[in-house]
Amino acid sequence: MKNMGLIIVANRAPFRRTPQGLVPAVGGLATALLPVLEAQGGTWVAASTGFKPHPGTTLHDGRVRVEEVPLPEKEWQGYYGGFSNRVLWPLCHYFLEKVELRREFYLDYQRANRRFADKVAQIYREGDTVFVQDYHLLLLPRLLRERISGRIGFFFHIPWPSSGVFRILPWGRSLVEGVLGADLIGFHTQEYAENFLRTAAYYGYTVTGQRVQVGERWVRVEVHPLGIDSQRFAELARQPHVHLHAQALKRLAGTNHLILGVDRLDYTKGILERLLAYERFLQAYPHWRGRVAFFQIATPSRTSVSAYRELKRKVDEVVGRIIGSFLREDWVPLRYFYQTYTQEDLAAFYLAADVALITPLRDGMNLVALEYAYTSQNGVLVLSNLAGAAEYLREAILVNPYDLDGIAAALDQALRMPQRERQERLSALKERISQMDVQGWALRFLESLKRK
Ligand code: G6P
Repeated sequence: MKNMGLIIVANRAPFRRTPQGLVPAVGGLATALLPVLEAQGGTWVAASTGFKPHPGTTLHDGRVRVEEVPLPEKEWQGYYGGFSNRVLWPLCHYFLEKVELRREFYLDYQRANRRFADKVAQIYREGDTVFVQDYHLLLLPRLLRERISGRIGFFFHIPWPSSGVFRILPWGRSLVEGVLGADLIGFHTQEYAENFLRTAAYYGYTVTGQRVQVGERWVRVEVHPLGIDSQRFAELARQPHVHLHAQALKRLAGTNHLILGVDRLDYTKGILERLLAYERFLQAYPHWRGRVAFFQIATPSRTSVSAYRELKRKVDEVVGRIIGSFLREDWVPLRYFYQTYTQEDLAAFYLAADVALITPLRDGMNLVALEYAYTSQNGVLVLSNLAGAAEYLREAILVNPYDLDGIAAALDQALRMPQRERQERLSALKERISQMDVQGWALRFLESLKRK
């Protein structure tokens, strides 16, 4: 039988271009999909900014080809900085006051999606499967359906909001029509899948169970939670140099108890609220002063969007205030790291931390929660009940990320948790996470996509 090719389409390439050359992307999608592409042979299509066409790049000894879709700078700003990150991102995470409904953003989004469609149609060979990723490319499945005959899969990695919220978009119907060009649509949780089905029904589609009728076709909607590369984290957790780094971090903390937060600097991640909750904790449980330290890692992200720059200013201010009010000669209550770390460094932070405080206000899944629970040897995970991961990680201490007193109480509970309970919860979490392995996610979705 002829080996059918796979075409992955995502806004981001599985590497970054730096002056030193290509740096492979770590985390989420690249880890999930590159091994599948490598085994099967295929192409990864991604945006490239500045309208600089790059010759096709190959990875993994030429088994994976990367094709970039060159976007003029202005169009990139409207498509990525505008419609994707000033409209869809805040809307889907329920930050309605941050949504900027500007028609020119939508026009650039349409143009960019068409350019992706042109590129895919150009490289497509009869029988190839196309797998489209995330909110940047909602219009693409339908544009492709008009031009190619192969199977089309689509995965939405962020929350699909309730249909009442989605309907705020003047272009909601076209976006839903766009996604419904796919044969199979995937979400991380049942809640998002249900929200999508209700949205489709609102726009007049017939919905039966988890299927939507589009003309003669039935589009299937399925739940496939994304996991992590658990083997990689297990290996990192065994490396002596990672342990040495973890010990150095514990010494830096200078206390018996270390609390950790790790996020992209994004308003959906609840960093500000988390810092305020830590401040509340130090006020409400003063006996912990001098005995705990909090390390917050915030990775720079989307700095061209003003909401992100504004958030940075606010976070800087609150960090300064907390340090200013609680600092003692023998105790630094909080350290804030505004930088990007490698997976190895993160593994050291995970090993060092007694508690991970992962409290996004809304999150499609949140893989940091999985990485921490899988790497940590004796830690407690405090997790937002508004992260997709909370649907699976029931043995974490689940908190409402808006409830500062609740988070403060959860921190106290986590720090006092008896050894036996820590171990029981952690091993249950590890078990669950090992079943959600990232490569299994891709294979399960692609297997299902093959079925009619
Ligand atoms: C989220 C999205 C991804 C995106 C990532 C980083 O996880 O679901 O599609 O790639 O954030 O954001 P960025 O804008 O830097 O690609």
